[in-house]
Amino acid sequence: MELTESKTKSVSQLVERKCELNIMKLMGIVSACLMILSVFAIISVVYRESPLDQLKEFAEARVNHHKGDSSSKSVDEHKDKLLDGLLSAGFDEKSCLSRYRSVLYRRSSPHKPSSYLQSRLRKYEDLHKQCGPYTESYNKTVEMLKSGHHIGQTDCNYIIWIAYSGLGNRILTMASAFLYALLTNRVLLVDRGNDIDDLFCEPFPELSWLLPLDFPVNEFNKFNQKSPESYGYMLKRNAISNTTNSLPPFLYLHLAHDYDDKDKLFFCDHDQSLLQGVSLLIMRTNEYFVPSLFLMSAFEQELRKLFPSKDTIRTFEPGNHPFQHVMDQVVACFVKEKLLPEVDPQEPILSAPGNRKSKAVLITSLNSGYFDKIKNMYWEKPTVTGETIGVYQPSNEEHQQTENNFHNRKAWAEMYLLSLTHVLITSGWSTFGYVAQSLGALKPWILYKPENHTTPDPPCCRAMSMEPCFHAPPSYDCKAKTWVDTGALVPHVRHCEDMIWGLKLVELDNL
Ligand SMILES: *[C@@H]1O[C@H](CO)[C@@H](O)[C@H](O)[C@H]1NC(C)=O
Ligand SMILES: *[C@@H]1O[C@H](CO)[C@@H](O)[C@H](O)[C@H]1NC(C)=O
Ligand SMILES: *[C@@H]1O[C@H](CO)[C@@H](O)[C@H](O)[C@H]1NC(C)=O
Repeated sequence: MELTESKTKSVSQLVERKCELNIMKLMGIVSACLMILSVFAIISVVYRESPLDQLKEFAEARVNHHKGDSSSKSVDEHKDKLLDGLLSAGFDEKSCLSRYRSVLYRRSSPHKPSSYLQSRLRKYEDLHKQCGPYTESYNKTVEMLKSGHHIGQTDCNYIIWIAYSGLGNRILTMASAFLYALLTNRVLLVDRGNDIDDLFCEPFPELSWLLPLDFPVNEFNKFNQKSPESYGYMLKRNAISNTTNSLPPFLYLHLAHDYDDKDKLFFCDHDQSLLQGVSLLIMRTNEYFVPSLFLMSAFEQELRKLFPSKDTIRTFEPGNHPFQHVMDQVVACFVKEKLLPEVDPQEPILSAPGNRKSKAVLITSLNSGYFDKIKNMYWEKPTVTGETIGVYQPSNEEHQQTENNFHNRKAWAEMYLLSLTHVLITSGWSTFGYVAQSLGALKPWILYKPENHTTPDPPCCRAMSMEPCFHAPPSYDCKAKTWVDTGALVPHVRHCEDMIWGLKLVELDNL
């Protein structure tokens, strides 16, 4: 259960109340990318010194459960360890323990990567080896950047991902940037920010994905929408077009929530063909922009091949909403949807004979109030089913500290723990929840944003797919040069449950 509250009240009225319950089976895009990026949490490191033994039990229960599941099957251990070919076999196991061990903790995914995706990943790894830090091509690019002139096409093109925004956003944008790199044959290098190297394993064998500190372009804070190198701003000034003779050696792409109409032309085929000629792209985004890539004809065919199943397919803010309303909503959601049993107000608490079943509830929130309330609820009264409900909260920080390393390690571990659950309830708009659902291949129950300080009715709905929502998609038809409803162009890209103007990928079983 993941709870955040947004401070943006004015827009919450627009939240779509309709909830569609289609049966869908989506090969999680972000899920695959996250697995590839080996971004597995460091639970044992983070919680080793903590008194939360219950939490360990929680994780171990999942392990045992998993073992029980698989004992009947003959498991190809080697293959499993590589997550069905998502991971390369070429790593030293000791370099990052969680990389190959993550398989121990999770159910095997029903969504198998296509063999084409596997082969493209191996091809990407080769490209990374050929073009990564301090290779000949890399050095040539560095020279070009130092001289400030475009000296012909090198063999390798690059995209630099700038560490920006909270951890949940960063994980989602990393996955987006990686997919974009894959689609455009670019090498992904990441700005290490304060703690990226501390939080993630190296995803590609042999050469690092971290941008070397001596890279000539490294003052990323300077880049903004109005930088001379900003693509959108250049378009605005007519400083670049497909007839420009010489393209600049690098461009800055501003794809953050506040981007404007010119910046959004990034999502047009015509602009993509221009960008192809630029050796280095530097991207700042806090948006999971994958759904819009699916609306571009330039990538359509490749995406279909990569993710063929069927028809193709914020951060924490201390709340402004009164805590009690959200609390009521959470309880209303799990009672109405029968995710957890009700308590029996009449009965004294007794160990109910016959039913020894128990459920563990993991709560992540900056506010410990939810934990206290739900825990007390099940502590004071028996459940009507006789089940025992254990309630756990790994940490509560009271406010988000984006730049604090230890905070981020704990946040990462919590997203990971949430991804191990069987049933997930998340707050609308929560990137923290999006990461958990994607990693765990879970379709969460999404809590609607409260309006007018009342509990929404219905309190929550089931997500259409495990995919995150792109909160700020463009709504421009590049060919027709008009505004369109981008949620109605193709069946597999739709408006989100938790944000009416957002876009997400869904897959329809029976179209
Ligand atoms: C690239 O440059 C670095 C020094 O900046 C050097 O150590 C390395 O050997 C060079 N790589 C190649 C392949 O020449
Ligand atoms: C440049 O783009 C325009 C559309 O914006 C297109 O009509 C024209 O053919 C393109 N020119 C080149 C040289 O690609
Ligand atoms: C919330 O309150 C405003 C102003 O009082 C009202 O116009 C609006 O319809 C209310 N929304 C809902 C969902 O009740």
